Amino acid sequence: MTAVVCTPCAIAEAAEALERGLLVAFPTETVYGLGADAENPQAVARIYEAKGRPSNHPVIVHVAPGADISYWAQQIPPEATQLIAALWPGPLTLILKRADHIPSAVSGGQDTVGIRCPAHPVAQELLRAFKGGKGGLAAPSANKFGHVSPTMAEHVLEEFAGETRAGGMIAAVLDGGQSEVGIESTILDLSRLASHGPVLLRPGHISAAQIAAVIGLQPASPDAAAPRASGTLDAHYAPQTPVIQVAPPELDDIVSRLQAKGKRLALMSYQAHPAIHADAWRHLPADPVGYAHDLYAGLRELDHAHADLILVESLPDEKDWQGVNDRLRRAAFDSRGILQTLLAE
Ligand code: TXA
Ligand code: MG
Repeated sequence: MTAVVCTPCAIAEAAEALERGLLVAFPTETVYGLGADAENPQAVARIYEAKGRPSNHPVIVHVAPGADISYWAQQIPPEATQLIAALWPGPLTLILKRADHIPSAVSGGQDTVGIRCPAHPVAQELLRAFKGGKGGLAAPSANKFGHVSPTMAEHVLEEFAGETRAGGMIAAVLDGGQSEVGIESTILDLSRLASHGPVLLRPGHISAAQIAAVIGLQPASPDAAAPRASGTLDAHYAPQTPVIQVAPPELDDIVSRLQAKGKRLALMSYQAHPAIHADAWRHLPADPVGYAHDLYAGLRELDHAHADLILVESLPDEKDWQGVNDRLRRAAFDSRGILQTLLAE
């Protein structure tokens, strides 16, 4: 099996495969998702198996535009209705109280459900074809647990080389080009509004300020009792090569010390660094939207350089950069010690 271009026929076949309980990877505007029928616990279990993901981690349910949210959620607070009207389809996931008949497999046993309506036309066509537009597709990012999320069909094939061949667990990989946004959806918890207000579980392209402008309430940061989200683990979104964030004043010095020790270095920058000659170098746009668009493809490319270290030029610590800073912090979790070891060798 290889990636298929998205003809109406390919989409209809993919929808049928999903209805039979198989897995299909599909493009969304954020990242590619690995989809299964959200109401079929065996199909959802296949996602966990393919990803190597712990089964107590919830997955997001994707629905078609105009879907009846009350089918999935027990209570729909006015804030959810306002956000859906203003920001769907789009990169915003809402966590709501799960309706009793929705299998708990989609929420890792929690009493909530994460729902989003993707903006990508191929995702929407697939959702309209699947169960006549009345179903939901559970779809985490189409990568192995903890790895970098895919923003292109080739990335999905690379992640699941074994599973996308004939007889593998993934029936089709729909190719919809490079994901526009590039980082995963913003996740907002509205399941505990009365006691905690809206809580931002994962920052993304849709900012806290945009949410506040719609509902008149500023989202809070997660507290200890907030619903669990694997995308909020300390270490996530990581390439095989250790990633280290370095501020420009230190960068030249670290590069020359490591190169003097014969280390292979990959560098991801967003400002020009003419003084630095890394073995592999990706220069990303100097604005948060452009940077997010290229981030994961850049990390994957640098991972292929088989460097000892990927050095990432630290980004501004500003609200607009919150989504990409969040992903980079998790990709770079705990690799400072590796830098010290390499410098000490
Ligand atoms: O942009 C996205 O959200 C992509 C595309 C494919 O839609 N999906 C994605 O899925 O990033 P995943 O599973 O890699 O991350 C989804 C996050 C996880 O951290 C998960 O724990 C959280 O959403 N989540 C889903 N349902 C939840 C729930 N009921 N309560 C708390 N967190 C939930
Ligand atoms: Mg993920």
